[in-house]
Formats: sequence, C-alpha cells, structure tokens
Amino acid sequence: MIAADSLREDQPRLALTGITKRFGAVLALDRVDFEVYPGEVVALVGDNGAGKSTLTKIIAGVYQVSEGTIAFEGRPVRIGSPEAATALGIATVYQDLALCDNLDVVANLFLGREQASGLPGGLRSLSEEEMERRTREVLHGLSVKIPSVRHPVCGARSLSCWTSRPPRWAWSRRPWCWGSSASCASGG
Ligand SMILES: Nc1ncnc2c1ncn2[C@@H]1O[C@H](COP(=O)(O)OP(=O)(O)OP(=O)(O)O)[C@@H](O)[C@H]1O
Ligand SMILES: [Mg+2]
Repeated sequence: MIAADSLREDQPRLALTGITKRFGAVLALDRVDFEVYPGEVVALVGDNGAGKSTLTKIIAGVYQVSEGTIAFEGRPVRIGSPEAATALGIATVYQDLALCDNLDVVANLFLGREQASGLPGGLRSLSEEEMERRTREVLHGLSVKIPSVRHPVCGARSLSCWTSRPPRWAWSRRPWCWGSSASCASGG
C-alpha cells in the first residue's frame, strides 16, 4: 500500500468510475462516478432508493459492481469482500446496531477478527489479554469511559469497525461518524 503521506493531495484516495449495479432487472446504480480526496469529509445524499446504500456496500465489499472500476490510493482494486475492504483500511459503520448484547465490549470489538496465537497441534488460542489491552487503548483514544470492558454491551453503540487496525476510512449513516488519519463519509 502507498504510504498516506506520499499521496498527492490532488489525487483521489478513493475513486469509483462508471459504477453500474444491477439486481436482476433493477438498475440500482447507473454509471456513478464518486471520488474522495485526502482529508475530505464527503456526504452522500439522495432520495429514497437513489442507491446510497448500494454504493456504500460496494465500497465496503458487500456487493460487487456489475460494471465500472474502483481505484484506491491511485491503483485499481477489486473489493471482493468486507475483509478486502478492511485490508485496504476501509471501515463501515452501519446504521443498525450491529452488536451482540450478550457479549462484552472486547468480544464485540473483535467480533469476526479475533486475535489468536498458535498452539502445538495446529490449535489456536484467543489472545484475550492483547484484545483487552487494545480495547482499552481504543476507548481511551475516543475518551470513552465505561466501568468495565468485560461487561456485556447491552445496547451500546457499535465500535466494531475500529479494531486492531485503525481504519483510514470510516463510513457512517449518522453524523457522529468518526475517522482516523483520513476521512469520514456519510452514506447509508
Ligand atoms: N438486494 C437488492 N435486490 C434488489 N433490488 C435492490 C437491492 N438492494 C437495493 N435494491 C434496489 O436498488 C435501488 C437502490 O436502493 P438503495 O437501498 O441503495 O437506495 P438508498 O439510496 O440507500 O435508499 P434509502 O434512502 O431508502 O436507504 C432501489 O430501487 C432498491 O429497491
Ligand atoms: Mg439506504
């Protein structure tokens, strides 16, 4: 990946060109161009059914384009899965509360991305202490104070996109979206 500070300010970090998405006979996106430049906060607005969620899910790797190209930090990419988006540093905060109420903050934060170390025989052991340390670090960085990261979350707002690798892009349906070194964009 190209280092963020070596990117030219006049070059889009993320560029989608001619994006078309069909769901059977439904044309959800028709040759959409969309760019985000370094340091920009971009709001994606449109009528109901305009295609905001579809475009967001394409960037998040949930949907694949029918036609069109995506470039990230100046090079063509195929965002074939949510994991591929995460690997690029793209995070998505969905409007619904994607939390497991019965799990604690640490388990929610690392859901699906649990850190583990290898054991003899091919077994893997969860790195609970490391995940807890990282959780405290993330919460501290966000000035979030809670009694214990080991309490079940029971309705707290999702932080699950912010785990061991801080995203360079964060998408949110809501205006409280947050980002790291780069931008936040509102979609939904
Ligand atoms: N999985 C799907 N299968 C078929 N059609 C779909 C699917 N997802 C979205 N669509 C259609 O694609 C179009 C764009 O929908 P999308 O949900 O992206 O719009 P939106 O801008 O997010 O709308 P809203 O403001 O209501 O959230 C709509 O006509 C919708 O019915
Ligand atoms: Mg939507």
